[in-house]
Amino acid sequence: LIDQIKIIGVAGAGTMGAGIAQVAAQSGFEVLLFDVNEEAVKKGLQIIGNNLQSAIEKKKISADEKKIILSKIKTTTNISVLKCDIIIEAIIEKLDVKQQLFQNLSAVNNEDCIFASNTSSIPITELAKEIPHPERIAGMHFFNPAHIMKLIEVVSGKLTGEKFAECIFQLALRFGKIPVRAKDSPGFIVNRIGKLFHTESLKILEEKIADAETIDALLENAGFKMGPFKLIDLIGVDANLNVTKSLYELFERNPKFRPSELQQKMVNEGLLGKKSGQGFYEY
Ligand SMILES: NC(=O)c1ccc[n+]([C@@H]2O[C@H](COP(=O)([O-])OP(=O)(O)OC[C@H]3O[C@@H](n4cnc5c(N)ncnc54)[C@H](O)[C@@H]3O)[C@@H](O)[C@H]2O)c1
Repeated sequence: LIDQIKIIGVAGAGTMGAGIAQVAAQSGFEVLLFDVNEEAVKKGLQIIGNNLQSAIEKKKISADEKKIILSKIKTTTNISVLKCDIIIEAIIEKLDVKQQLFQNLSAVNNEDCIFASNTSSIPITELAKEIPHPERIAGMHFFNPAHIMKLIEVVSGKLTGEKFAECIFQLALRFGKIPVRAKDSPGFIVNRIGKLFHTESLKILEEKIADAETIDALLENAGFKMGPFKLIDLIGVDANLNVTKSLYELFERNPKFRPSELQQKMVNEGLLGKKSGQGFYEY
């Protein structure tokens, strides 16, 4: 199957979609980047351009290579032209919105089109429920920033066909990534563990035991590459909260995943982290 993949669709041009489109183009594939929001598409392309520019400065690629990579990425806000060999979905973390998107994509594409979801927390089995030929959908969970982080969790739902999961695993290898297979479960492996790192740090902050800088510095000194608040700002305060809400519901409101009121307040006020210029830190 992997050799049939020439055109990769990426749905959602936000933090993750832009990075995924870049990785795919950098690996030699033609890419069609789709978003419902014209501004998001523009911003996504701008992020890719900036990432490639910094790769030039670090002498990882040449200016010619940047041009070639950018020439491989076409964009659209019209779903009816999103006809591809595989579509990697990276839209908002809401089950009903993702299901609707996959239904629309099923109507546009033939049954050979493979679907991959970058969901952080939603079980693939749930996503597949409403989709014609559900065997062709699997999880392809990248980490942020997608153009740098090597790990990809490849997740098979109850209905996922082995050849499709294997194809996504092979695609991850072609992207130069390190894929791991995971069983379908809310949050898979990394987010189930990582979520507790976030929720507990938020509780410490809410209880005024220490401020964000102190907690970050302490955990970085303890060996974590990035403290929890710098990481939430990078992920997006809103995107991170959506994942917490999703895991909280999926784990039957287990208090260990309870969403933070402080984080909700920040989202309400538009303090979304790096992407909005202000989160726990100012950018
Ligand atoms: N941010 C992270 O660190 C991270 C890491 C791994 C996985 N994820 C997952 O990736 C997905 C995207 O997260 P993000 O942080 O990139 O979000 P984001 O908010 O930065 O971007 C989401 C984009 O999807 C677009 N969108 C919304 N509904 C759409 C629709 N119906 N059709 C097409 N486009 C639509 C929005 O306009 C927006 O541009 C989520 O499922 C999230 O859980 C995020």
